Amino acid sequence: PSRIRIHHLQQAKDRGEKFAMLTAYDVMMAEIFDSAGIEILLVGDSAANTVIGYDSTLPITLDEMVVFTKAVANGAQRAMVVADLPFGSYEQSPAQAVETAVRLMKEGGAQAVKMEGTAQYAEHVRAMVLAGVPVIGHIGFTPQSEHALGGFRVQGRGDAMAQMKADALALQDAGAFCILMEMVPSTAAAEIDAALRVPTIGIGAGASTTGQVLVWQDMLGLGARRTPRFVKKYADLRSVIGQAVSEYHQDVISGSFPSEEYEFKE
Ligand code: KIV
Ligand code: NA
Repeated sequence: PSRIRIHHLQQAKDRGEKFAMLTAYDVMMAEIFDSAGIEILLVGDSAANTVIGYDSTLPITLDEMVVFTKAVANGAQRAMVVADLPFGSYEQSPAQAVETAVRLMKEGGAQAVKMEGTAQYAEHVRAMVLAGVPVIGHIGFTPQSEHALGGFRVQGRGDAMAQMKADALALQDAGAFCILMEMVPSTAAAEIDAALRVPTIGIGAGASTTGQVLVWQDMLGLGARRTPRFVKKYADLRSVIGQAVSEYHQDVISGSFPSEEYEFKE
């Protein structure tokens, strides 16, 4: 299958079609999601939460992101692989952003990066794009700024909407090929999507964006924690896996595994 590229995503917006992004952090899930037709695999810094077990995305390092990105790139035949710039790896300067993005592409095998930030990061985007790095801008609720934003809260309500739209336009003008909006009112997301030439992706942003994204452990019910309102749960993997593993445990304790069929003969 031929690779999903930027122009396919732009075509979707131009034709009024949709596409789906899903997070991935390892090769086997990447293979499954790719085969299921997901257009973009996001190696999110949410790996900090979903894989490593931190309670925020702040502690994950660039070295760790590179490893997860390699794993996903190894499993993706068709999907575009996008990696997050982790906290502390790009803010200081456009040059730092380029250096980080180049590592995620060169060592990790990503085909694009995603960066959290407002219009104040337009120069960072411009520098990465100049270096040949396709960039997705991430606005609205940006988890790396959790402490600055005062916790997990909807962004862009009321008067804040105009600034968010200006941020989106500035990032687009700096060369971002797509804008992702997290936890914004659906009306604001719709207005911003309409104002932009490039496609948009939403998470907790309603149905008007070109694409949608979810964290896979949330949508497949692997996590123990209560999921946010914007997550639709498509499976209950936590109980499926828990039941299978306790069956295995009982089989071992009772001696019924391994039975003869699992043995080697002389
Ligand atoms: O890291 C992540 O999973 C993300 C998505 C939730 C957009 O940035
Ligand atoms: Na992220």
